[in-house]
This record gives sequence, structure tokens and C-alpha cells, in this order.
Amino acid sequence: MGGKRQFRVWRGDEQGGQLENYEVEVNEGEVVLDVIHRLQATDAPDLACRWNCKAGKCGSCSMEINGMPRLGCMTRMSTFDENETVTITPLRTFPIIRDLVTDVSFNYEKARETPAFAPPADLEPGEYRMQQVDVERSQEFRKCIECFLCQNTCHVVRDHEENKPEFSGPRFFIRAAELDMHPLDARTDRKEYAQAEQGLGYCNITKCCTEVCPEHIKITDNAIIPMKERVVDRRYDPIVWLGSKIFRRGQTDGSGTGARREETLGAVHSHAGHSHDPRAEAEAERGVNWHRQVPGPQRAAVDARGRLPISEFAFDRPAAPSPFGDDVKFPLPTDSLNYAHPDQPSQQQD
Ligand code: SF4
Ligand code: SF4
Ligand code: FES
Repeated sequence: MGGKRQFRVWRGDEQGGQLENYEVEVNEGEVVLDVIHRLQATDAPDLACRWNCKAGKCGSCSMEINGMPRLGCMTRMSTFDENETVTITPLRTFPIIRDLVTDVSFNYEKARETPAFAPPADLEPGEYRMQQVDVERSQEFRKCIECFLCQNTCHVVRDHEENKPEFSGPRFFIRAAELDMHPLDARTDRKEYAQAEQGLGYCNITKCCTEVCPEHIKITDNAIIPMKERVVDRRYDPIVWLGSKIFRRGQTDGSGTGARREETLGAVHSHAGHSHDPRAEAEAERGVNWHRQVPGPQRAAVDARGRLPISEFAFDRPAAPSPFGDDVKFPLPTDSLNYAHPDQPSQQQD
């Protein structure tokens, strides 16, 4: 299994760059990020690459491997033919900073634009209660590690810089869907917002985003399509349209920001967001019972001062022993450290 393998790695910065050839030792069980680390330790010490966890959970090692957007730490070398040259390039949709590092701030700007969770005005933090079934519905979307592989893949922005202002991208469509399905989210215009402000209409459900998601989130089937169906319901179902006019529900305020009208939820919360046509909702969700009545939130148990109990503070047993031993004082003396510390006298090389 081990031995030298051929790699082509993109080197450069915002001024331009090129693919450079490397021959790197690869051992059994290694992933592409291991190869990049070996390259940094040998032939290319200045090769820039972002990573943190090496466990597929921080979402920072996103890159394109043989043209496919992937996590470097989750791409096993064994998936490639032994004689195959593996080409590693930066994400194409975002501006290059250097080598494999791109400027993904587009995504943070879109995150800031996305209206935050809006709890009911009559509930205090600590009073939020929701049923397990509702937790499970949005759990899939909360698995997102913000690797932005889906954002990078989406053809709406991949080669169309001009679409970026109007298009938030699949990562933020799942955020909108998650909040729309949240039983305690008081905003009733998530889908209209997605259509009017996040560019949901640009998406033609090619499912490319779903294909590359390392968390296997069914972005298109479970978020985008239900949102699109609800937009259509709201716009073209005459009964829903009439109802929305009469009750003036679900209207965006046009500001494009998070400042929206809040509604006080009644005694019964439904994760249909109580703004949708229940029949259409049921069809859209294929099997989910939108008619189910969910009990209203109950006040959490608090102490005499009105504060929530924090179990960690009330632990009735000692914590696990310190790996440093019980007699160690912190900070450790710098001369006992086995790594270079600024307070250590500099070590002269002979
Ligand atoms: S399904 Fe929509 S959001 Fe996903 S890649 Fe295709 S166009 Fe983009
Ligand atoms: S939805 Fe999937 S591909 Fe997109 S940012 Fe989240 S984890 Fe990455
Ligand atoms: S290094 Fe964290 S996801 Fe790859």
C-alpha cells in the first residue's frame, strides 16, 4: 500500500498561480490532508492549507480533489487508483487568499443577513419547550459543519460572481427551512424571505449541493423542495392567498434584514408555523402529520431566586482526576516545558 504517489497541487495567490507536481510518500490508511501535511514537512513548507480537527467536524479543510469538492481529512487515499495523479485545488467559488486557502467571508455575510431565531415574545429564555419529534425534524439541518462545500458547488454562484448579492446558497436555505420548521419560531415569513431575499428562486434543484455534503444532509429534498412548495402554496393557492390578505400574515417587511413583525403565539403551537395551509403542508412533507396539536411550552423548574438549576454545579461527586496529577501548580514553570516558550532562554544551536 505504501510508496510514492503523484500529486498536483495548486500554488499561488490572488494574483494567479499554477499546478505544481509533487511526489509524496503515502502510507496505508492516510487521507489527503495527511499528504498535505507531509508535503508541508518536506517539499513545500510554505504550502497554505486550512484545517483544524482532522475529524470531519470543523469544516475547514474544504478543497477540490480531482475536481470534486471534498474535505481533505475525510478523503482516503485508498479511494484513488495507485497510479492516479491526485490533483488538489482550492474551492473555486471563493476568492483565493493563498494556495488552498480561500476567503469564505461571502458565507458569513449571508449568515449575518439571515434572520435569527425569533422566540415567542411571551416566553423567557429557559421557558422554551418543544417535543422530541420537532427536535428530530430540524436535527438533520443542525448537523451542518459549515464546510461550505455545498456553497462552492452550486452553479448559481460557482461561475457567476454577479449572482452572489442575491443568492444566499444551499447552506442558508437549510437554515431557513430549519427555522421554518421550528415550533417556537414566531416569524411566519421564512419561506417568503427565502424567496424574496435569499434567492431561493435561482435554485433549479440540481441536487449538486446534496451530493457533496459530508454530513449527508438532504439539502434539496428535505429543505429546498419543501420551501419551494410552500412558496408556491402561499402564492398560488387562492384560499391561502385570501387568508393571508385577511389576516395579513406572512408578509415580509421588505427591509431585507432581521427586523420583522413578531406574533404572539397562542396556547397551542404547531410546527406548521400556523401560517400555512395544513393540507398543502401535509402533502409537502409526505407523511408528517401537520395537524398534530403540540402542547404549549411549560415553565421550567427554577429555584427560589427564579434561576434554572445547573446540574454541573450541583455534582455530588468529585470530578475525574487531573491528568497532570494533584500536586501540579499552574502555570507550569517554563523550564519544565518540552516545547519552545517565549519565556524560555533561547536555545543556541551548536
Ligand atoms: S440544488 Fe439548488 S442550491 Fe443545490 S446546487 Fe443545485 S441550484 Fe444550487
Ligand atoms: S450543508 Fe453540508 S455541504 Fe453545506 S456547509 Fe453544511 S455540512 Fe457543508
Ligand atoms: S480538518 Fe476539520 S473537517 Fe477536515
